[in-house]
Amino acid sequence: MVSPKPPAIDIEALSFTYPDKTVALKGLDLKVADGECLVIVGPNGAGKSTLLLSLNGLIETEGKITIKAEVMNKKNLKEIRRLVGVVFQDPDDQLFMPTVFEDVAFGPINMGMREEEVHARVHQSLGLVGMDALEGRLSHHLSFGEKKLICIATVLAMDPAILVFDEPTANLDPRARRHLISLLMDDLRQTKVISTHDMNFAAEVADHVVILYKSKIVADGPAREILTDERLLLEYGLEMPTNIDLKS
Ligand SMILES: Nc1ncnc2c1ncn2[C@@H]1O[C@H](COP(=O)(O)OP(=O)(O)OP(=O)(O)O)[C@@H](O)[C@H]1O
Ligand SMILES: [Mg+2]
Repeated sequence: MVSPKPPAIDIEALSFTYPDKTVALKGLDLKVADGECLVIVGPNGAGKSTLLLSLNGLIETEGKITIKAEVMNKKNLKEIRRLVGVVFQDPDDQLFMPTVFEDVAFGPINMGMREEEVHARVHQSLGLVGMDALEGRLSHHLSFGEKKLICIATVLAMDPAILVFDEPTANLDPRARRHLISLLMDDLRQTKVISTHDMNFAAEVADHVVILYKSKIVADGPAREILTDERLLLEYGLEMPTNIDLKS
């Protein structure tokens, strides 16, 4: 018998308290299957961004996080960060080079790629997010939505096995939002973890949904089960998606 594939992400008893004593994560257990798209929903302040930051060791948590069979520790953070690419909620936390080209090239250069390959990666990832025309622009002059798409390109340029997006559709115009959905569904075959308040977006892209509420996981199941349970969603301050185009 073939043994089942281990999860891409396995989280056990994960807790985190900010230095000012704000409790953000309380005893989370969560498995993300290889290749699936997990969407995390929950009200403001529930702990979604904190959970996403923990996935590549950007905060020091209690508990155990296993990424592709590698237990995260202080010594393997470099490898973990190659495996897990995080697009932050706020693009200004991610873009720090003068131009778009330099921001997108930063990861590939750091990975030791040759110049031609760096250029190829930059063109390819800007093309994927539909932002090739912005290559020469100054990053800090871009609109919020443009910055968000460039942030996605900076992560795609490193081709991580796991993609993590914090509210990727926030401030995107309808065309850019549709483009992002088709990119996620058709082009990016990696394991994905996405937080969002956009329930229709969740319904289109999710295989698996988790509700985070007051630092805890209060629901965890197949997208179809969670996103059609109106009573459950309302209980946690959420709404049913209005589209019925559920992925699974
Ligand atoms: N740097 C910080 N220092 C102290 N507390 C913080 C910090 N960042 C977040 N928090 C707190 O931690 C909790 C979880 O915040 P987090 O940003 O993870 O929530 P979220 O679910 O992503 O919310 P949103 O939907 O508004 O993005 C909140 O109570 C928040 O106020
Ligand atoms: Mg957040």
